[in-house]
Amino acid sequence: MLPEELRKSLEAKIAAVDHPREMVVDVIFAIQEHFGYLSDEGVEETARLVGMSPLEVEQLATFYTFIYREPVGKYVIHVCDSVVCWMNGFETIKDYLSKKLGIGDGETTPDGLFTLLPVCCVGYCDRSPAILINKKVHGNLTPEKIDEIIEELKASAS
Ligand code: FES
Repeated sequence: MLPEELRKSLEAKIAAVDHPREMVVDVIFAIQEHFGYLSDEGVEETARLVGMSPLEVEQLATFYTFIYREPVGKYVIHVCDSVVCWMNGFETIKDYLSKKLGIGDGETTPDGLFTLLPVCCVGYCDRSPAILINKKVHGNLTPEKIDEIIEELKASAS
């Protein structure tokens, strides 16, 4: 299932460490980076590469928020769902985003652009409420700021 080049590169990295299972998260992220999410085949491939059982890989994959076991949109919006953001307008931001995109938690817009997922603190408490989109954090959010961010992302996707 993995392209030859990616498989070889992962095998080389695994061969360079003392214990192959040390590389399990790296392998998962490499597969996710390539396919957009970690499919059942990806779980099996990871298990085979690092010498773990598919169940062990599955347990690990479902533990981490940033490992996606189902297809996600081009932009994954992680809305911080933790205490400082709760105090600073999390609900307004979350409702606004949900209405603007027409999706709820765990859903993806029909155009495949956006997925909305709650997440624990993204480390931007001093600029809460905050969201993380792919690897970029956005803070001090207001509905207007959300409009700007979403429009920018839509424009860059077209
Ligand atoms: S509580 Fe939201 S960024 Fe920390």
